[in-house]
Amino acid sequence: MVKLNENYLKLPGSYLFSTIGKKVAAYSEAHPDVKVIRLGIGDVTQPLVPAIIKALHEAVEEMGNAETFHGYAPDLGYAFLRETIAQKDYQARGCAIDADEIFISDGAKSDCGNIQEIFSADARIAVCDPVYPVYVDSNVMAGRTGVYDEKTGTWSHVIYMPCTAENGFVPQLSEETPDLIYLCVPNNPTGTALTRDQLKVWVDYANSAGAVILYDAAYEAYIAQDDVPHSIYEIPGARTCAIEFRSFSKNAGFTGVRLGFTVVPKDLKCGGASAHSLWARRHGTKFNGAPYIVQKAAMAVYSEEGKAQLKEQVAYYMRNAKVIFDGLKEAGYEVYGGINAPYIWLKVPEGMTSWDFFDYLLEKAHVVGTPGSGFGPSGEGYFRLTAFGNYENAAEAIDRIRNL
Ligand code: MLT
Repeated sequence: MVKLNENYLKLPGSYLFSTIGKKVAAYSEAHPDVKVIRLGIGDVTQPLVPAIIKALHEAVEEMGNAETFHGYAPDLGYAFLRETIAQKDYQARGCAIDADEIFISDGAKSDCGNIQEIFSADARIAVCDPVYPVYVDSNVMAGRTGVYDEKTGTWSHVIYMPCTAENGFVPQLSEETPDLIYLCVPNNPTGTALTRDQLKVWVDYANSAGAVILYDAAYEAYIAQDDVPHSIYEIPGARTCAIEFRSFSKNAGFTGVRLGFTVVPKDLKCGGASAHSLWARRHGTKFNGAPYIVQKAAMAVYSEEGKAQLKEQVAYYMRNAKVIFDGLKEAGYEVYGGINAPYIWLKVPEGMTSWDFFDYLLEKAHVVGTPGSGFGPSGEGYFRLTAFGNYENAAEAIDRIRNL
């Protein structure tokens, strides 16, 4: 009889945000009159900016005309978008990235989850702890993570790099040598970032160890400090050791529109084989291109008008981040993040676990956040709040927490 992929059976019952969603739905059903404020999942709430809406409308019109209609998009993305990204996101910053090293996709989550397919089944992965769950779960599905230890919440074959207040949320080089190193900068969930010097340590290490850095820069638009790099390719040597993921979800509000891209430099060789060729082969086989309409909409992100409108949108969310950060500080919490990222990471009160605090906040303040332990064992004792809501809700949530 056919068997299912048993690796999937090793995974927790549901993805972190589905578990939270179910808990909150049950609470709201039992308390229909309570206004619950959701600062849990990092989903954008502001409408698409006018420049993007205009580009979408124009592209829809094109699709309604035989002369300008578009069928399958090129697997790797339209040249107009790849060239624009190469120039504006990379070459303008002094990064030597070419248009044909950019692969357009339906979002960074898919690419972060799929990239492991081009590496060997026994590749050893290293992750920051806490970590965006997709990196570990996708490797569990591929059978790369070993055995799960319920007590410690760790997989035997995964190298965890604790990022806590004690080490300033900076991952430290591990004793064991990894093959794949996942880094997310600015970081989800801690909202902290790495400086150029801190990132250079990792680039040098990966080059000397023959490891590959899988660099998730989905929150790049939120960087406020000058010494935080916007791309790993700002660091000399990154072309031979790093793959970068970018998203339009958080910088342009595309969580429901779907678009992202991955950069695989042609200089990245593993045992003489080209990661670029393998990713191109994989992408061409399993992906039929992101919609023309959406790729045209992404072009508006780079227009002068679009840039100005999106700058305001990012500022709107970062104003929420400040209200949350300052309010929690005033209320006596130990608070991190929120400066280069739209996430605030706080220490839960002494004696509570992350999930205790989740229940406490939901019941007493009717505010939803994300328990730090859901992101990994070193997230225990911490809690994440997102700044992606609307301003009034963020302010009200903080008032409620302050008054507890
Ligand atoms: C989060 O809440 O961590 C994000 O929404 C995850 C994502 O971008 O997929």
